[in-house]
Amino acid sequence: MPRREDCRLRPVAEDDLELVLNWRNSERIRRNMYGDHIISMEEHKAWFNRLKDDSSAVYLLFEVCQTPVGMVYFTDIDRKNSKCFWGFYLGEDNLPRGTGTILGVSGMEYAFEILQIRKLCGEAFQFNSASVKFFQKLGFAREGHFVRHVLKEGVYEDVISFALFKDCWQDRRNELERTAFHV
Ligand SMILES: CC(C)(COP(=O)(O)OP(=O)(O)OC[C@H]1O[C@@H](n2cnc3c(N)ncnc32)[C@H](O)[C@@H]1OP(=O)(O)O)[C@@H](O)C(=O)NCCC(=O)NCCS
Repeated sequence: MPRREDCRLRPVAEDDLELVLNWRNSERIRRNMYGDHIISMEEHKAWFNRLKDDSSAVYLLFEVCQTPVGMVYFTDIDRKNSKCFWGFYLGEDNLPRGTGTILGVSGMEYAFEILQIRKLCGEAFQFNSASVKFFQKLGFAREGHFVRHVLKEGVYEDVISFALFKDCWQDRRNELERTAFHV
């Protein structure tokens, strides 16, 4: 089990692009994402360059003992309403059980403390039971169920929407940290 001091989130850098593209194009990640075509390096670099001027999105690498193992990202950052969407994935296989929970707890802390978000929103395909359970474990409330919402491999799939407010997170913060870090 990683210790808190061994885990961090940091901005994605140019040198990470190959690693991130390999993760993003892997079958395990693509099957759970809205966009699921194979991304070329050219497209990936264009995305990275656009990000530099985009104040509505933040992409972070999650590192354990200085090794990148996953991504947490915030999109549609809406300053007026203090809300945004987030997404996450573990890029590496065979990580110790619980690594995802640490990634999630770290991402929530970043959203509420650094970005000063009031309402953190997320969505998952209904078939992605690991992610649906994950949102619930992290304290997110289910806010919506969009029926036959997104075309995925020829089928319109249902999407579940989740949200967590900063005050609810503050109330549960210590408990979540204990769960994540076993402290
Ligand atoms: C979602 C994700 C980050 C969770 O990471 P993880 O390493 O499985 O996380 P943890 O081991 O900390 O498990 C966290 C919780 O997720 C749920 N979970 C994890 N794997 C699961 C599985 N195979 N089936 C059902 N629930 C699962 C459980 O609720 C688990 O809590 P528990 O251990 O108390 O039962 C990871 O599964 C992932 O990267 N999935 C692919 C990408 C993806 O779906 N991203 C989200 C898109 S919305």
